[in-house]
Amino acid sequence: ATTLGASAAERGRYFGTAVAANKLSDSAYTTILNREFNSVTPENEMKIDATEPNQNQFNYANADRIVQHARSQGMQVRGHTLAWHSQQPGWMQNMSGTALRNAMLNHVTQVATHFRGQVVAWDVVNEAFADGSTGARRDSNLQRTGNDWIEAAFRAARAADPNAKLCYNDYNTDDWTHAKTQAVYRMVQDFKQRGVPIDCVGLQSHMNNQSPYPSNYRTTLSSFAALGVDVQITELDIEGANATWYRNVVNDCLAVARCNGITVWGIRDSDSWRASQTPLLFNSSGAKKPAYDAVLQALNNG
Ligand code: G3I
Repeated sequence: ATTLGASAAERGRYFGTAVAANKLSDSAYTTILNREFNSVTPENEMKIDATEPNQNQFNYANADRIVQHARSQGMQVRGHTLAWHSQQPGWMQNMSGTALRNAMLNHVTQVATHFRGQVVAWDVVNEAFADGSTGARRDSNLQRTGNDWIEAAFRAARAADPNAKLCYNDYNTDDWTHAKTQAVYRMVQDFKQRGVPIDCVGLQSHMNNQSPYPSNYRTTLSSFAALGVDVQITELDIEGANATWYRNVVNDCLAVARCNGITVWGIRDSDSWRASQTPLLFNSSGAKKPAYDAVLQALNNG
């Protein structure tokens, strides 16, 4: 096929992008969005600070705008994210203990209920593990409510929207030998063994040039899949938009049956959170880059 979404669909997968609500009025942006992608992830609009700016006062206006756009175009929606140490509204940042635990669970319940039936997969918990070699949980106000905060969030999400796929999402988890990757793996394995509801693992895959392409990336994908979860590449961008690396990512995903979708973290370089690294598939004028051709070709021939 001739677009990313249609080509991915032929391989039984989706190809998505992060979307910002305030860009939906930019016709150059929506032209590419509507043509190329069949899944969207709101870049910021479903985060805690956006959806619950004051405790128990929910604001879904911008998120709903993205969901409506996606529905009108027949695109699916990935929800991002219900529980995270970052982008917490001020009222939550200083909370602790039982009050914070209950506020977090209420947030998960309310937001997942609002979007019930409209979100195919939720990043229920985002970035809960520490970087470095410890394999430990990241310290945060949520972590300090007790190590079981993650499974509590997943149970609340399942109760609120039983049909949504529930994902754990993190970065620096591409390299199979990395302590953080192993720690996430052990958590998912434990959840599956104990019946904690989890359906998918999201690898953000923000890649940079500091180290070589992770030659064991496919092993990471297949190892998670072997636990009985789907694997999704959720926030892909690559410093310099190295076309070979983009091709590798697509081929590695296609090689793993349960790697069921790829999302790039923005459309044009100018839309990127790290625009100076020009990490995306379209340049700031909206033209296709060599990385785009590599991805399209891999989806069709890989
Ligand atoms: O909302 C304010 C707006 O009112 C103000 O006018 C504007 C001025 O700069 O700032 C706006 O907020 C910014 C927001 O993006 C929307 O542009 C925040 O300051 C800024 O921190 C926020 O950055 C986002 C970042 O997450 C926040 O953590 C990026 O857009 C977004 O791409 C990035 O995405 C994260 C994923 O959620 C999780 N994984 C890593 C990824 C990259 O950091």
